[in-house]
Amino acid sequence: MRSKIIIANWKLNGNWSFNEEFANALSKGLQEIDLKDRQIVICPPNVYLQQMNGLLLEKSIFLGGQDLSDELSGAFTGETSGAMLKDFGCRYVIVGHSERRARHFETDDMVVKKTMNAISAGIIPVVCIGETQEQRQSGLMKEVLSEQIHSLVSGVADQIGNVVLAYEPIWAIGTGATATVEQAQEVHGWVRSEIERVNPAIAQKLPIIYGGSVKAGNAPELLEAPDIDGLLVGGASLMPREFLTICLAGL
Ligand code: PGA
Repeated sequence: MRSKIIIANWKLNGNWSFNEEFANALSKGLQEIDLKDRQIVICPPNVYLQQMNGLLLEKSIFLGGQDLSDELSGAFTGETSGAMLKDFGCRYVIVGHSERRARHFETDDMVVKKTMNAISAGIIPVVCIGETQEQRQSGLMKEVLSEQIHSLVSGVADQIGNVVLAYEPIWAIGTGATATVEQAQEVHGWVRSEIERVNPAIAQKLPIIYGGSVKAGNAPELLEAPDIDGLLVGGASLMPREFLTICLAGL
């Protein structure tokens, strides 16, 4: 059985006092709870990694970065490498989020480079794939996802077993329009079958998590679906009580 991963993507949010209150509330809420191998990951802005590393002492809570450089070191102003994230205690890093693909023109090739950089730094990449509303409506969803998946699978080759995939339909991110469980499960099952075609040994082990307007209300049924191995949570991860409820959903 694949264990579940719940990831908070704080994006450009948080500040010194909010972080402290959040970390204390989460640590308290998770104390003495049997999470059954479930991992909770908080991805704050990089400047707060050290602060959060000192606050999140529960053993089931891990830190993650929201992005990493496709370069290893050198004259790349503003970039953060995988090795630096590792130094600050990160176990995970989000790669190729649709906001970065759209705003920072990240290509599938860059996503592969970042994924490999994370793995070589000893960090687990959470690689995001997803389609826009127009692509879904015009019947291009599988073509778009297939391109993203196959670029990743061929680019990282036998390292695919060290990746977490995140299916995030772009039309569901920050919009309140969650994919239904049926829609999400259908895509997750299909993504797994695509992986199976190229790497049957890995497909059943690969965690595929869902993101896009996840809330306390829809988390339990999403987590029940056979091919949904966790959640990537944006907006709702900024509300400590709501996020705690999501972390505990279905336990
Ligand atoms: P959302 O964001 O939960 O606010 O839709 C999810 C994400 O972008 O990872």
